[in-house]
Amino acid sequence: MARKRSEHTCVFGFGWGDEGKGKVVDLLCPAFDIVVRFNGGANAGHTVCVGSETFALHLLPTGVLHETAVGVIGPGVVVDPIALLAEIDALAVRSVDVADRLKISDRAHLVLDYHKIEDQLSERAAGAEGKIGTTARGIGPCYADKMRRTTAVRFADLLDDKELTLRVRRIVEAKKASFSAMYGEDGDLNAQTVLDKLAQAAERLRSNVCDTTRFLHEAIESGKSLLFEGANGILLDVDHGTYPYVTSSSTGPHGIGAGAGVPPQCVTRLIGVSKAYSTRVGSGPFVTELKDEIGERIRRQGREFGTTTGRPRRCGWFDAVTCRYTAQLSGATDLALLHLDTLTGLEEIGVCVAYRCDGQTLRTLPASVSRIERAEPIIEFLPGWREELRSVRQFEDLPKNTRDYVNRIEVLIGVPISIVGVGPDRSQTLVRGELRDVVQVPESSLA
Ligand code: IMP
Repeated sequence: MARKRSEHTCVFGFGWGDEGKGKVVDLLCPAFDIVVRFNGGANAGHTVCVGSETFALHLLPTGVLHETAVGVIGPGVVVDPIALLAEIDALAVRSVDVADRLKISDRAHLVLDYHKIEDQLSERAAGAEGKIGTTARGIGPCYADKMRRTTAVRFADLLDDKELTLRVRRIVEAKKASFSAMYGEDGDLNAQTVLDKLAQAAERLRSNVCDTTRFLHEAIESGKSLLFEGANGILLDVDHGTYPYVTSSSTGPHGIGAGAGVPPQCVTRLIGVSKAYSTRVGSGPFVTELKDEIGERIRRQGREFGTTTGRPRRCGWFDAVTCRYTAQLSGATDLALLHLDTLTGLEEIGVCVAYRCDGQTLRTLPASVSRIERAEPIIEFLPGWREELRSVRQFEDLPKNTRDYVNRIEVLIGVPISIVGVGPDRSQTLVRGELRDVVQVPESSLA
């Protein structure tokens, strides 16, 4: 069992999502009382392997897999209530009961049928060249409604049936008109279907909905420790990512203030998560992408297929340019570098140390997508290793070339690499430095 520490912590992705945040949260969780989601929605996909079982969570904080943790869905999350209920039910079937340990912010916005339809219509209209490659979970349209305000529905609105009915009928009419004008079809929307689903959500989730901001502040005052789970990844951040190929929320620790209502300075341990290489799903620039057999091999060995959509992930070398950028933006105190075992067997391994673009050497990420698209990676090659890593339990026991690879990345990023992943199981994790006081890795949870 891990020891209790009250340093509030955030775990977040250094890349374009899918970094393995679920695994890191799962390891840290025994040291925390409350796990909090503050951004995104069912676009996220967090996979955790416990023994022979694999759990894939989308909306629930991953930490709820630990039966003592209270899960909080903050005001900054956009919640598809039907997807959330399906997730709760799927866990219940596997004897993980979360319904009594879940709190949903009354300020959180609801993702409804018309958001998912709009996501699809808008992607189709943008065509192969212009589309974002979204997860089609209605995330962008729901955040757009949140900003527009007149067409939004929050959990607090579920309390007044009469007002809600009028509001949803008006919104559905407005959506039909705007879909017809923009996409030439009204999306076949039906207000009653939306209202029926809302009634189902209200019925089953009523006791979970509360003022989570107040709950979290009271928890902090009473000495409870909080773990914030960033969804997606900083390169998908709406302000700082590879815009417009991003998601619609603030995906790093900077999102905690807005998305959970907790002052960011409360959260002092900031653990970024990255793979030992890069991946991306959906469209958008990816300077270190490998469109050759090495990329194919990484995809195969790392089982790089999306948790949410099943799409094959694009794979490439580790990018120290983007990771230095995300380290600075986030103020990361630690880095978890996962999936080292996936690189086993490669003759040499590339790390991108800078970009070459328009005759210049760039050491940070440009804002313009077309500039990033024109950039060529400057790759430094390090010798690979052939030894299998999955049974290694101490950093010092890793092959020399593996240690050199990790140490080189640490120098390039300027953030201590406190967690190293050598396999998918909880036990296949090496912890270094101070974090050893917080995380105690189980000897083996493999069946
Ligand atoms: P959206 O969040 O569904 O609007 O998708 C916007 C972009 O973010 C697309 O490229 C998605 O593939 C990507 N994306 C969103 N969430 C995740 C995630 O959790 N992992 C990886 N990619 C994601």
